[in-house]
Amino acid sequence: RPFQIALIPGDGIGKEVAPEGVRVVEAAARRHGIHLRFTEIGWASCDHWRAHGTMMPADWKAQLQGMDALFFGAVGWPADVPDHVSLWGSLLQFRREFDQYVNLRPVRLFDGVPCPLAGRQPGDIDYLIVRENTEGEYTNIGGTMWPGTEREVVLQQSVFSRRGTDRVLKYAFELAASRPRHKLTVATKSNGMAVSMPWWDSRADAMAADYPQIAVDKQHIDILSARFVLQPDRFDVVVASNLFGDILSDLGPASVGTIGIAPSANLNPERSFPSLFEPVHGSAPDIHGKGIANPIAMIWSGAMMLDFLTDGTGAGRAAHDDIVRAIEGVLREGPRTPDLGGRASTSELGRAVAERL
Ligand code: NAI
Ligand code: MG
Repeated sequence: RPFQIALIPGDGIGKEVAPEGVRVVEAAARRHGIHLRFTEIGWASCDHWRAHGTMMPADWKAQLQGMDALFFGAVGWPADVPDHVSLWGSLLQFRREFDQYVNLRPVRLFDGVPCPLAGRQPGDIDYLIVRENTEGEYTNIGGTMWPGTEREVVLQQSVFSRRGTDRVLKYAFELAASRPRHKLTVATKSNGMAVSMPWWDSRADAMAADYPQIAVDKQHIDILSARFVLQPDRFDVVVASNLFGDILSDLGPASVGTIGIAPSANLNPERSFPSLFEPVHGSAPDIHGKGIANPIAMIWSGAMMLDFLTDGTGAGRAAHDDIVRAIEGVLREGPRTPDLGGRASTSELGRAVAERL
C-alpha cells in the first residue's frame, strides 16, 4: 500500500517550494522502493478564505484523518487575513487536533553557507530542538477586564499538563539516547515563572532518573538563548515548552545562515494521527511570485517525512540521508538562490538537488 500524503501548499512561497519538495521526495522514494501517493489540497490557504470566509472546509478533519502525513508549505497573507485568523484556522488546528505534540527542528551549519556567528565551522553546530507543540504558553484562555478604561487588565493563561509535559520530555530523552553525545538541554525559567517552570523542572528531574546515561543540563531560557549564539557547540538535543521552543527554533536556524533551509516536523509519535512536515519559514509575501524562494527547507522537511513514515524499515532513513547529502552538495557547490547570494531560481535549485540523488 502506498503512503498517502496530503500536499498542502498554502499561501505565498508555500506554493512555490511545494513542487520542489515533491520532486525530490519522489525521486528519493523511488530509489528506495518507497511508494507514495500525493493528494493536493487547495484549502488551508488564504485563497480559500477569500472564496469562503474560512480557512478550511467544515469536514477537514475527516478528509485528512486517513492520510499518513501532511506535507505543508506555509500559510498566511497578512494583507488580506489577520495572521491569528489564518494560522489558528489551519496550521494550529492540525497541530492540536492531530495531537502533533513534538515539533522537531534540526539546526545544522553547512559548508558553503556563510555563518553569522564569527569563527564557526561546519561541524560546530549540529543540534535538534524539540518544542512542545500543543499546550504551554500558547492557549486562547484568558480575557480582558474593564477593557478600554484606565483599569484595563489582561490575563493570558498557560497550561502545563503532566501527560503533555512527560510525553514531550520522554521523546527528547529517547532522542538524546539515540545520538552519540547523550546530551539533553532542558530550557526553563524557574527563576521568573514561579509556578509552571519549577514544576516543569521537577518532571525533567524525575525522568532523568530513568536515563542515567544522559547528561542533563537545565538552563534558563535567557542564558540559553545567549549560548545558542556564543557556544552553539554545547548543544545536542534541546527540549523546550511551546513559547521557548518557538523562539529558540527561529534563533537556531538564523544562527546558521538562512531561514530558507530550516525544516521542521510536527509529530504525533504514536501515529494515531497524521504528522505534518513543513519548512520553518512562512509565506514570505515580500519575495512571493518571483520564483526565488529557497526550496531547501521544504525539501529537507520532506526527507524528515520519509524517515518518519518508514520507521523501522531503514529505507526511509536511507532516503533521508541521500536527500541531506544532496542538499549538502548543492549548498557547497551551488547553484544558490538569492538568500544565499546566488541568482538561481526555486526550480533550478530543486532540480539540482534531485539530480544529485
Ligand atoms: P517569513 O518566514 O515568511 O519571512 C521572513 C523573511 O525571510 C522574509 O524576508 C522572507 O523573504 C525570508 N524568507 C522566508 N522563507 C524564505 C525562503 N524559503 N527563501 C528565501 N527567503 C525566505 O516570515 P514573516 O514575513 O514573518 O511572515 C509572513 C507570513 O507567513 C505571515 O502571514 C506569517 O504569519 C506566516 N508564517 C507562517 C508560518 C507557517 O506557515 N508555518 C511560519 C511563519 C510565518
Ligand atoms: Mg515561529
